[in-house]
Amino acid sequence: MILHKHFDVNAEGHLTIGGMDSVELAKKHGTPLYIIDENALRTQCRIYREAARKYFGEDALPLYASKALCFTGIYKIAAEEGMGIDCVSGGELYTAKKAGFPAERIYFHGNNKTDKDISDAMDMGVGTFVVDNNDELSAVSREATRRGITQRILLRITPGIDPHTHRAIVTGNVDSKFGSAIETGQAMEIVKKAIDTEGVCLAGLHCHIGSQIFDIEPFADAAAIMTQFIAKIKKECDFEIKELNLGGGLGVRYTEYDREIDYADCICKIAKVVTELCKKNGIAQPRIILEPGRSLVAAAGATLYTVGSVKEITGFRNYVSVDGGMPDNPRYALYQSQYTALIANKASEPKTYRATIAGRCCESGDLLGENMELQKAERGDILAVLVTGAYNYSMASNYNRIPRPPVVMIKDGKDRVAVKRETYEDIVRNDV
Ligand code: LLP
Repeated sequence: MILHKHFDVNAEGHLTIGGMDSVELAKKHGTPLYIIDENALRTQCRIYREAARKYFGEDALPLYASKALCFTGIYKIAAEEGMGIDCVSGGELYTAKKAGFPAERIYFHGNNKTDKDISDAMDMGVGTFVVDNNDELSAVSREATRRGITQRILLRITPGIDPHTHRAIVTGNVDSKFGSAIETGQAMEIVKKAIDTEGVCLAGLHCHIGSQIFDIEPFADAAAIMTQFIAKIKKECDFEIKELNLGGGLGVRYTEYDREIDYADCICKIAKVVTELCKKNGIAQPRIILEPGRSLVAAAGATLYTVGSVKEITGFRNYVSVDGGMPDNPRYALYQSQYTALIANKASEPKTYRATIAGRCCESGDLLGENMELQKAERGDILAVLVTGAYNYSMASNYNRIPRPPVVMIKDGKDRVAVKRETYEDIVRNDV
């Protein structure tokens, strides 16, 4: 096992993913190549779904935050696994619609839904809008009233928590483009307005404190602040908040320095806190919604590349260049995210080599990692980067007019293309 159960090494010394030989997969589908192990993904969905029901009650619902990895096949799996989904854009909604995802189980997020987004989502019958701010509340109300419907909404509330994660992915503190803060009084203002606003039905509140969080404390703190706020709403407005969405954000093991996470145990601990706090604050426990993205799909993924130039700069460092880079995984360039990499065709050899893994874009920041431990690399080797299922394909670009790699799903010894490799023709398709 390497990091996660579904990564291993076979008798040929090749990396296996979900029991399949990664070198064979690279040969068959070409590189760069995203692989998603469907069983690993479904297992995570089941852990969340079962733990949410067991610890929060039968009506609890985990949503898949589909910004982490979005294509029609993923929404089909989320539907089959009994999940809801979080969509943040017209494009994600459209993809979900194409996949036939049940609209009533969609939560529509985003801090700046355009009038067209709002109208398209209502055309689709999206179950719940997560309204970010006062201005958006008016826009949603206007469109719903014009249609003569009542739109179910949650309000995005900023609890003011700093979960000590990377600054660029913190979303729950007061000075944020997301939500209305309790601390500034804006949260109470928007709640009061929503209760009295035509065309909307205030079902509950939402908060999301950040991403790649390993500690339970920030979630417990957010839950405490939110339940106190719900009690205050009951007292001041005589209004019952029936649903509380606690967002996503649980961390994922990317390297051996990250600890393993028992997700069911985390959900159990958060549930205990929520139950106790509801009792203490004299409120009925609202229906709980969870919204994980990364922890559902990250570990299920790996990216395979072919090694090209290997350059050793004496006294400095070794560069191993691959046929992908920041266009298929911008996370090192953006956040210095750490990954585990290995030479897939030499997986049983010791990692005696240190190298910077470079992409092929015309930009020195185009790196997948620095000072990485690897097996000795040579031109033609297959390099694997593990745990790339989240925020890789979904954040991929065509920088330098590089076509996006395909996504191949594997399950029970079979592989199937879920997203085709982009061609140069695809790249020029919209040029006029
Ligand atoms: N709900 C909301 C409202 C969110 O904004 C997010 C993530 C999630 C749920 C899912 O969070 P997760 O369980 O995946 O941590 N591109 C960055 C991550 C940005 C996360 C944005 N929001 C990265 O590559 O690390």
